[in-house]
Amino acid sequence: MKFFIDTANIKEIEEAKKMGLIDGVTTNPSLMAKEGGNVNEIAKKICEIVDGPVSLEVLATDFEGMIKEARELVKFGPNVVIKIPMTEEGIKASYFLEREGIPTNVTLVFSLNQALLVGKIGASYVSPFVGRLDDIGERGMKLVEEIVQVYKNYNFKTEIIVASIRHPEHVRQAALIGAHIATIPFKVIKKLASHPLTDIGLEKFLSDFQKVKGA
Ligand code: E4P
Repeated sequence: MKFFIDTANIKEIEEAKKMGLIDGVTTNPSLMAKEGGNVNEIAKKICEIVDGPVSLEVLATDFEGMIKEARELVKFGPNVVIKIPMTEEGIKASYFLEREGIPTNVTLVFSLNQALLVGKIGASYVSPFVGRLDDIGERGMKLVEEIVQVYKNYNFKTEIIVASIRHPEHVRQAALIGAHIATIPFKVIKKLASHPLTDIGLEKFLSDFQKVKGA
């Protein structure tokens, strides 16, 4: 299972990289805006730090605009993936760019039929948003299960990125279902490493040893 980090924060990316857990990065306009500063410089820096794919999202909503922006974004590094919203124009743009050899990640996917289109046009990645589905009372991970099944049925090569992850349980379920990738916020990555029994156990090991040492 590949781990992407879902952030545009350089410090978080560097920290997660040190843990050896980062296979790629996903950003979006909200994450970029949160960082402030020069968006182009941030994008370039991320592409330099990370060896794996870096998803950078277009802001245009029409086909021509998306293609124009994509041609600029790919200049930031050989690992750029163009993130494109799941709309009719987005599907056209993703299909076009993939045929030019530019990888795309179709984002804001909330239904199996949307994911079916993404697989059918041969996009490199599809991003179903599990947390936002949970927020409206649907089961985000059920959608992931269905996409995994349908992509298997038709041998689609598109890799599934479980996105909008809010807690470790999303990651656990994504791994059990067999999604290719989870894109995870840094705070959730940190939570994956911890368990209260580990903390209690470590404390006891250390205090037991101290007792003997003191005797
Ligand atoms: C995915 O690529 C998006 O950047 C992200 O996962 C959205 O997460 P959110 O729903 O927590 O904003």
